[in-house]
Amino acid sequence: MIAALQDTIRKLKKEKNIAILAHSYQSTEILEVADLVGDSFQLSLAARDIDCDTVILCGVRFMADTVKILSPEKKVILPVGIATCPMAEQIGPQRVLRYKEEHPDHKVVAYINTTTELKAVCDVCVTSSTAKKIVDNIDEKDILFIPDYNLGSYIKKTSPDKNIILWNGMCPTHAAVTERDVEEMRARYPDALLLVHPECPPEIVKHADYAGSTSGIVQYALEVDRDCIIGTEISIANYLAMLKPERNFPVLSKRLICPNMRVTNLADVYKSLTGEGGEEIVLDEALRLAAKKPIDEMIRLGSMNA
Ligand code: 13P
Ligand code: SF4
Repeated sequence: MIAALQDTIRKLKKEKNIAILAHSYQSTEILEVADLVGDSFQLSLAARDIDCDTVILCGVRFMADTVKILSPEKKVILPVGIATCPMAEQIGPQRVLRYKEEHPDHKVVAYINTTTELKAVCDVCVTSSTAKKIVDNIDEKDILFIPDYNLGSYIKKTSPDKNIILWNGMCPTHAAVTERDVEEMRARYPDALLLVHPECPPEIVKHADYAGSTSGIVQYALEVDRDCIIGTEISIANYLAMLKPERNFPVLSKRLICPNMRVTNLADVYKSLTGEGGEEIVLDEALRLAAKKPIDEMIRLGSMNA
C-alpha cells in the first residue's frame, strides 16, 4: 500500500516537474520520495537552486515561506496548512522594531524558525548548522539573538567575543528535556555517545559529545561506530535505526516529539501533487523582498570562510 502510493508520487512529480523537499524530521515514507532531505540551511539552498515548476515542502510553514521568498517564480505548496513552528511566533515584529530604535548599533540575528513578517525587520538569519559561522562573520560586536534562548546560549558560548543579548523564546519540544533524562539514559547506555540539537537547554548541551543541526546529528551518528543517544526529535532516531539496524539509537526523552512536524503524511503529499490538498504559499511582494534580505545575508555569511 505505502510502496504503491510512493510509486504513484514518484511518477506524478516527474510528469508535473514538481520537486519534493523534506525536512529531516519527516517520516521515513516521505523521506523516501523526496528529491532532497536536509536541515533548514540545506533546504534554503535547495529552494534557491532546484530546477522545477513547483515545490512541495514537507516540514513547517516557515520552511515553505523560505522557499517562496527565495524562488517567487515557483509554486510552493505546504501539504498541511496547520504545520507551523510555535517558536516562530514567540516574538512580534513591533518588539524588534522598538529594540532597533533603542539600540541602533546592534545587529538583530534571527533564527530561521521565525515568521516572514519577523524576518522582514531583522538583519540576518541563521540556522542551527550555520549560526556560529554567521555570528563570527558579522562585523558588529553587539547582537540581539531571537527567538531561541537555548540556541542563543549555545552561540554565546561558541562565539565568546560577541556581546549577545538573548530573547526568552524556546522550542517546546527540545526545552522539555531534563538533566534527569541525561542521567537515566547515560546509566542505561553507558557506552553510547550523546548527540543533541542546540535547541535543548544549556544544562543538556553541556553533557553532549556532539551538538549540531538535525542533518549534523545524522551525519555524526553515521560516521562514528558507536551507539548514540539522540537528543532531538524522535524521527531522527527512527531514521538512523532504519539505516543502521545493527546499532542502537535510543531517544534521549520520549517527550522529543514535534506535533507540527508529525502532522504531514504520505497521503497529504499525494493530495498536494494532484491539487486535491495542500496550501499554496502566497506572500505580499514588499514583504517577500524585505524578508529576503536577512536570508540572502545568511547565505552570503554562511558561505564565507569563518
Ligand atoms: P535544523 O536547522 O537543525 O534543521 O532545525 C530545525 C528545527 O526546527 C529543529 O527543531
Ligand atoms: Fe519548531 Fe521545535 Fe518543532 Fe523544530 S522541533 S519545528 S523548533 S517546534
